[in-house]
Amino acid sequence: MSTLFDRIGLLYTGDPDREEILDAALVVEDGRVAWIGRSGDDPGADERVDVDGRCVIPGFVDSHAHLVFAGDRTAEFTARMSGERYTAGGIRTTVAATRAAGDALLVARTAALVAEMLAQGTTTVEIKSGYGLTVADERRSLEIARGFTEETTYLGAHVVPPDASSADDYVRTVTGEMLAACAPHAKWVDVFCERGAFDADQSREILTAGIKAGLLPRVHANQLGHGPGVSIAAELGAASADHCTHLTGADIAALSSAGVVATLLPGAEFSTRSPYPEARRLLDAGVTVALATDCNPGSSFTSSMPFCVALAVREMGMTPLEAIRAATRGGAQALRRTDVGVLRRGARGDLVILEAPSYVHLAYRPGVPLVTQVWKEGRRVA
Ligand code: NIG
Ligand code: FE
Repeated sequence: MSTLFDRIGLLYTGDPDREEILDAALVVEDGRVAWIGRSGDDPGADERVDVDGRCVIPGFVDSHAHLVFAGDRTAEFTARMSGERYTAGGIRTTVAATRAAGDALLVARTAALVAEMLAQGTTTVEIKSGYGLTVADERRSLEIARGFTEETTYLGAHVVPPDASSADDYVRTVTGEMLAACAPHAKWVDVFCERGAFDADQSREILTAGIKAGLLPRVHANQLGHGPGVSIAAELGAASADHCTHLTGADIAALSSAGVVATLLPGAEFSTRSPYPEARRLLDAGVTVALATDCNPGSSFTSSMPFCVALAVREMGMTPLEAIRAATRGGAQALRRTDVGVLRRGARGDLVILEAPSYVHLAYRPGVPLVTQVWKEGRRVA
């Protein structure tokens, strides 16, 4: 089965060799990009979609999301908007609701968020555990996540749960019995390295144990204050350091020299009324930047990559080109993927048609539902 997308006004490919093509056409065959050429050329295809001058981009790659949970934290959000500080203490509220929820409810809630994302153009999503924090509940979260994506992350080290006998005891579980139960269902291991969550030694121990079990490291780093998360990510060769809200010059140099992607999550700063990460400093130092939603019920309950692109441009000094790049190819790099986030021969046929002549409109027309068609592996899904 092949589909010709014809009369593309602007094709943002995400391919550094030719990142933007005007008046383009593209063929997806058997789920993969098979041909890119000029509008009006006839490479032969089973069906033709007239894009009529609109902009086409790769499906968004949301490389950081916490989707398996029950309950919500409306009251906490409301309190924050009238001046309360975000402390991540609310994670425990979600843990209690998640543990109490049946499997069917958790699957349905996760499916609803994944569908919400798909409708907004996200065709690849990473999903973390981290609201179970028992062996059985973490494994269950990852089994559910696996039903939706191959990009699953073991985050047993989200916080020390209130029922743990001590932090040391919980770290033993996270690196022992819980890891053994979770590793078969996960690609990645993550740790919330932050004051009040896990310190440098604990984070190193947890990530190293995960690596030994065959998982790849990524880190929640430097979200609420300066700390060791970014340097540990660099030291252990993590694919990505996520949040990066409070960075020293040394942190930026470490990300740059170790080739760690900085995944910025502006939905979290928006929803916690915090200063945004300094994307400009990172980009100017040659660090690869990814944008992701951090979709979770506490710090960032948005599923919208277009919203994050708009925030990155308006609040973080990124150009629209840098923002679309970070939301597609950047996310793919944060997941060590070369088959998504880019439209080139052989890549997955994941693409979005915007109701706009350019991706710039994602920032220029914030809040407007510009995603008009979503195709995943050559099939229309939204
Ligand atoms: O990435 N920082 C830790 N974890 C989440 C927040 C989780 C929550 O508040 O429920 C984050 O922002
Ligand atoms: Fe997060």
